[in-house]
Amino acid sequence: MKNIICISLLAVLLPGLSYADDQHKHQEPVKTQAASAGVQALSADLRSLLSQEMQAIQYGMMSIIPAYASGNWSEIETTAGKIKSSYILMQHLSKAQVEELHSLLPAEFIEKDENFHYLAGMLEHAAKHKKPELVNFYFSEMNRSCVSCHSAFATHKFPALSVKPKNEHAH
Ligand code: HEC
Repeated sequence: MKNIICISLLAVLLPGLSYADDQHKHQEPVKTQAASAGVQALSADLRSLLSQEMQAIQYGMMSIIPAYASGNWSEIETTAGKIKSSYILMQHLSKAQVEELHSLLPAEFIEKDENFHYLAGMLEHAAKHKKPELVNFYFSEMNRSCVSCHSAFATHKFPALSVKPKNEHAH
């Protein structure tokens, strides 16, 4: 399962990035499209890593449903922990790749990724303490986090998540 990576690694790798205090007001669709373009501009290698990671995360998330229904807290703890610390795999990135990420992905992406990482840690914690309500809460927050990031950065992949199509008459 070493391919359960998490883009949280990006957060770890980009310590120099300032956290965009002045960016909050500018989250209009225009910027969103530019952000999505940033992801699409990543090299084939990086994009493939990102895809692998996403699929692993999705697989992990799906496995949590039966574990939750049956009270298998330790499995949830393990899975959440893997998602949380998955940045390890990103250590395989070359320096050039790190710079590429740095230059192409906006701070808002890093922020969302960090938040996702944080939620996975909270889920791990809740499972460890066998707290069903909290497990459910953080699981659901993580699901929200998928949609939030995809709406901002992956509408090329998930067009149904584009809130306001810019120029086109969507249907
Ligand atoms: C911080 C941003 C972010 C978060 C959080 C995030 N994703 Fe993604 N995800 C992306 C981006 C960007 C892409 C598109 C990658 C591309 O186009 O190469 C993507 C693509 C995917 C894909 C398609 C992968 C492929 O290429 O086959 C799946 C599946 C996926 N995400 C699942 C999830 C799930 C499930 C969650 C939440 C549990 C999640 N993602 C959370 C940014 C995110």
